Amino acid sequence: MNKKSKFGLDVIDNEEKAQKIQNVFSSVATNYDLMNDLMSLGSHRIWKRRFLQVVKPRQSDIVLDIASGTGDIAINLARACKGINLTCLDANKEMLTIAEDRFIDSGIVENVNFIAKPIEKFKEANNYTLATIVFGFRNFTDQLTALENIYNSLKTGGKLVIMDFKSPSNEIIRELYEKYTDFIIPKIGKYIAGDESSYKYLSDSIKTYIKPNELSRLLERINFENVTYETLPGDIVTIHKGYKT
Ligand SMILES: C[S@@+](CC[C@H](N)C(=O)[O-])C[C@H]1O[C@@H](n2cnc3c(N)ncnc32)[C@H](O)[C@@H]1O
Repeated sequence: MNKKSKFGLDVIDNEEKAQKIQNVFSSVATNYDLMNDLMSLGSHRIWKRRFLQVVKPRQSDIVLDIASGTGDIAINLARACKGINLTCLDANKEMLTIAEDRFIDSGIVENVNFIAKPIEKFKEANNYTLATIVFGFRNFTDQLTALENIYNSLKTGGKLVIMDFKSPSNEIIRELYEKYTDFIIPKIGKYIAGDESSYKYLSDSIKTYIKPNELSRLLERINFENVTYETLPGDIVTIHKGYKT
């Protein structure tokens, strides 16, 4: 039987999910950065600042930034540590092309590589000291295979840091938040980016995403150690950390 996984509110074959995810990000690529600012009311910049504080990149790090998208986090990592060795991986060529252009525009061209490939097909061993995923994990088709590949790609002592959304714990706040993600975000998508359904998917994918403690268990199942997470102020974003020891 074909492997299945969640796509928004549906459960579909993995192959179909991979294709649908491609379609979503090809469709949103050109407006992605503007939409991020609009949908989060600029908060993603604060979340990403905290992410960098947690990551604590070092000049000597060899970094794999997975689901790099348009390169927001990768560029921030490169700015935080000049000359850092950085590989940006993303399944979607359109998103990654924007990342490449942004790096060129920022004058950062050395020690940066781009790989257009799903993480589930990325087979490298013992190469990286740091792996980062920002708002990408919940879109992966096969999260277990993705984590196994990331674990194998890390050197001993290497660190994985994942930032993604969570549903608010408080029931009343959760209801309000879901009204925003169910009705307002898709409408912003419709009027600004001309694409309501992709933004509906992004909202639904937050609702059906695994809970923070389940993600911790998943990381431990893959053998990551010292797994911890923190919830950011606002209770809608978490940062998980784990080590290959
Ligand atoms: C919401 S964007 C995140 C972009 C960026 N990290 C940021 O925070 O601005 C999610 C990205 O995950 C990528 N993606 C989805 N599934 C993937 C997979 N299986 N392997 C690698 N990248 C994937 C998409 O193509 C998309 O560019």
